[in-house]
Amino acid sequence: MAKMWAGRTDGTTDQIADDFNSSIHFDCRLFEEDITGSIAHASMLKKQAIIPGEAADHIIEELKVILSDLKSGKLEIDLSCEDIHMFVEQVLTERIGDEGKMLHTARSRNDQVALDMRMYMRKKGNEIIALIKELIEVLNESAEKYTDVIMPGYTHLQRAQPVFFAQHLLAYEMMLLRDVSRLEDALERMDESPIGACALAGTTYDTDRMYEAELLGFSGISANSMDAVSDRDFCLEFLSCFSILMMHLSRFSEELLLWTSWEFRFVELSDSYTTGSSIMPQKKNSDMAELVRGKTGRVYGDLVSLLTVMKGIPLAYNKDMQEDKEPVFDAIDTVIMCLKVFTPMIATMKVNSDNMHQAAREGFINATDLADYMVKKGLPFRSAYKISGLIVAECIRSGQVLETLPLDEYKKYWDQFEEDLYEAIDLKNAADTRTSKGGTSRASIREQIELVKKKLG
Ligand code: ARG
Repeated sequence: MAKMWAGRTDGTTDQIADDFNSSIHFDCRLFEEDITGSIAHASMLKKQAIIPGEAADHIIEELKVILSDLKSGKLEIDLSCEDIHMFVEQVLTERIGDEGKMLHTARSRNDQVALDMRMYMRKKGNEIIALIKELIEVLNESAEKYTDVIMPGYTHLQRAQPVFFAQHLLAYEMMLLRDVSRLEDALERMDESPIGACALAGTTYDTDRMYEAELLGFSGISANSMDAVSDRDFCLEFLSCFSILMMHLSRFSEELLLWTSWEFRFVELSDSYTTGSSIMPQKKNSDMAELVRGKTGRVYGDLVSLLTVMKGIPLAYNKDMQEDKEPVFDAIDTVIMCLKVFTPMIATMKVNSDNMHQAAREGFINATDLADYMVKKGLPFRSAYKISGLIVAECIRSGQVLETLPLDEYKKYWDQFEEDLYEAIDLKNAADTRTSKGGTSRASIREQIELVKKKLG
């Protein structure tokens, strides 16, 4: 097929070169942004009298028809075109003739693609923010529901101190809230229209970039034409945000995998989000959580891939930059899919409070509270720590736990122990008296739940 850019060359590229060069297989998903951008461009050209008003009207009218034809499936994307920009222009010109050829005045595919990508990412960024917020809401409801459930909090995956399950859930809520705010920051920084930068140097036509930007919902325009067409830092910012988000979901998945194991049995996932084994009849596998963990690697790969593409290319546009799309699209699709499965998986998960409590009882996780008890009675912390450790060792030797060791045994280690020590080491009490700001006390948990509600708006 004759190339739109035939002229300097005869445009008769080899088929293999065409296939290699073409991006329509993946940039076809930008059709709506591309056409919306072109409609705004034609409006600007008309307002500035750069092209005849009548021609602009015809262009706009037909672009709207093309958009609805594509949406309804009446018009199919011609995959033999080089990219989506060429395809739209080709259909327009086929349909309205020479007037269609006026659309590309004071514009280049370089600023066009930079615009399309920003618009697409704005749409998807907002969609992802809404999905993260849904997940936070589900977690916050669970935190409210499980405020009284005691579990062991871990460090080094060893039982450390008693916490309420809600405190654990709220930790993830805080991480996810930051993921939302990171994406919002990226959206704000990206809120500059590159269109009008043209190929790289701007244009001699009397364009109105701000007018075009406003039509497209941007609050500003890029200040430098070469920057506008050269950088993909906005894509990289999104990929970084996605990577951090996936890292959070992956850690959560890892915990779900531990918690659903027979060794922990802290939670049970709904049958709708688990699978069986083709050979072992007893199995209930948490494949969804494993896949979220696995797909995290894939999203990191998307980030590293684009960072590597960008690191060595001179200003301004280079075809290397066409390689931005597949990683960005892949990361967006992956993140959306993960969130869509993760949220209902959490919403339907059953919490096994008894097992959590039992695990908390067995691990001497109130040994710090025993030490704190002695400190409150006047002993320096380091000495109290030592005594508490010796008592734990004694319990392990004699097959006891701190709650069951008799008072006279305690007194062998420190003569000021009294009956009230049992209250101090009671697990629920130990958690509930951690009233420092952000701590695991139920008062603090209620504060955190309210904070999240306020942030979700
Ligand atoms: N398909 C191209 C891309 O995705 C569009 C821009 C092409 N520009 C050019 N000068 N060849 O980057």
